[in-house]
Order: sequence, then C-alpha cells, then structure tokens
Amino acid sequence: MSERSRLPLHVTVNGKPREIEVDPGDTLLTLLRDGLALTGAKRGCNQGLCGACTVLLDGRPVRSCLTVAATCSGAEVETAEGLLEGNRLSALQQAMVEQGAVQCGYCTPGMAVALTALLRETPVPTREEVREAISGHLCRCSGYTKIVDAAVSVANREEA
Ligand code: FES
Repeated sequence: MSERSRLPLHVTVNGKPREIEVDPGDTLLTLLRDGLALTGAKRGCNQGLCGACTVLLDGRPVRSCLTVAATCSGAEVETAEGLLEGNRLSALQQAMVEQGAVQCGYCTPGMAVALTALLRETPVPTREEVREAISGHLCRCSGYTKIVDAAVSVANREEA
C-alpha cells in the first residue's frame, strides 16, 4: 500500500498519547504489536475466537484482532503492559502468579485484561461472574479453575 493511503491516527495507549499512521485495513492488534512493539496482546487465532488479543478500548474488553485500528481514533487503549502499577504487578497479576493461574502464559494477558475490566466494574464478583468474564477466552493448560481462584482471591483480599 502506498504511503499516501495511510491514515493518521491519534490514540492513547496505556496513558501515553500516540500519533501513528495505519493502513485502512490494519487491526488494532497489528497497530499494537507491529506499530508500537507492545506484544502483550497475543496473536492467537487472529479470527476473534480465542481471546488472546483482548485489550481494553475505552474501558471495555475487545478483541483487537477484529477491531479496525482506524476506528480507534481518539480512543483510550489499555494493554496487559498497562496493567502494571509502576514496575510492580497489579494485585490481579500477582494473584494469578500466586494461585498458579499462569501455565504456558499465552492466554494470560488477555485473561488479565478481561478480569481487570470485571474487577473495576464489579469489585467483588461471584465465581459465576468471573467465569462469564473469561467465557470467550480459550486456555489449553490451566483448566480455568486457578484463574477463577485468582480473581476471587483479589476481590476477597481487597474486601478484607
Ligand atoms: Fe484475537 Fe484470537 S487472536 S481472538
């Protein structure tokens, strides 16, 4: 594609304003991984099926492999990298480590992003609500239970 057909895009990623040019057909996942070198969002199925590419777009979880980058102008994007609190893991990320919810790690960033959105909206979710929040995320090695345990433990810890 020629340089002339590229589109300027202003987007805020993990709190940092970014000006970047994208091709009209670029996905948000391509913008993040290839344009901004943010590889937390994983390219799994690249068809909207696995959830590995999940990021927050204006606070809501989206599949970045299905989101056209050019439609994100003016939006706030949060990736797994943006969940860190300074140089430390967030409470959820720490709980995922402590509960053994991280196995191969491929689905972990998308799960952490989706669960962060849930915990912001519902600080003390039920196990059913946690399961619902990650229902579109495929994980081949954790069995899901430890991921649910981690999210619930964060809620319980903060409630205490
Ligand atoms: Fe986007 Fe699988 S890579 S849903």
